[in-house]
Amino acid sequence: MAIILGIESSCDETSASICIDGEIKSNIIAGQAIHSKYGGVVPELASRAHQQNIIPTVDQAIQQAKITKKDVDAVAFTRGPGLLGSLLVGTSFAKSFALARQIPLIEVNHMQAHILAHFIDDPKPNFPFLCLTVSGGHTQIVLIKDYFDMELLGQTLDDAAGEAFDKTAKILTLPYPGGPLIDKYAQLGDPNAFSLPEPQISGLNFSFSGLKTAILYLVQAKMKENPQFLTQHLNDVCASVQSRIVSVLLNKLKKAAKQTCVKDIAIAGGVSANSGLRSALIEMGEQYKWRVFIPKFEYCTDNAAMIAIAGYQKYLKQDFVGQDITPLARMHV
Ligand code: KG4
Ligand code: ZN
Repeated sequence: MAIILGIESSCDETSASICIDGEIKSNIIAGQAIHSKYGGVVPELASRAHQQNIIPTVDQAIQQAKITKKDVDAVAFTRGPGLLGSLLVGTSFAKSFALARQIPLIEVNHMQAHILAHFIDDPKPNFPFLCLTVSGGHTQIVLIKDYFDMELLGQTLDDAAGEAFDKTAKILTLPYPGGPLIDKYAQLGDPNAFSLPEPQISGLNFSFSGLKTAILYLVQAKMKENPQFLTQHLNDVCASVQSRIVSVLLNKLKKAAKQTCVKDIAIAGGVSANSGLRSALIEMGEQYKWRVFIPKFEYCTDNAAMIAIAGYQKYLKQDFVGQDITPLARMHV
């Protein structure tokens, strides 16, 4: 039997999870409301909140899994990419726990873990599969050949998809993180109300900065004509923005599927919680005869279950690291 404790602290969520023989028994997530009034994550405040949250979060994960600290066989933690101060809290905790209990330590790449979240529940994708990983910091199309053998096929050249949602929300005077709010208002609006440009980027790369500027200019022009524009047309603006972001993402995914002839297609990361993206992907999957994999909501945004499941796969391979390991703000898949 293998009991893995997973720790995630790369951004503004402190999370701990217990995985027993590949099955997730708990996944506790402590969010940080403090950032919403600043319009984005404040790194110094994030690391301080991680310090406060980490011990109670781990205790709760262990309790909910009905085990004790002594039962844990290995500790897996997010090494990167992420905010260095935040990563340091999870890394230091994991190292101390492993040292105190004399158990192995496992490093996990956060972006790989978002993808490996698809191995938590059935049905699971077959190798090779494609994954569109869309989060607050990344937008990538990845070809997954094996658990830890991944090839980056395309990525954003500027803003990430989550950033495009969050920056648009800021223009619309919505609080951070704006992605879920845009999703909510978009469901009540007309996606064809305002036309927004589709960025012309070759290959499988993305660009979202032009879209953000187009939205800013649109809102500024409309507000000049009618100061009540945002209150009167918020749902339509949100629906139009969301529909454009989703079409940009899915057009590239379609291109990647065609190029690689892969039919198992997954999405991952915080933006994969988006209802417009989820339904459009299901529709596209039916059209192109793909097997589509969409994570449960709790495994889309940052969580430690994905770290624990990735850690479990490394545990099976005895892929451990020493106490000299340090976190990395930048890491590739
Ligand atoms: O993966 P994640 O939790 O953290 C990072 O690793 O970045 O992703 C967070 C991002 C934020 O930009 C947030 O606005 C976005 O995911 N997000 C959404 C939705 N839920 C979260 N974007 C659009 N629609 C949603 N429903
Ligand atoms: Zn993430």
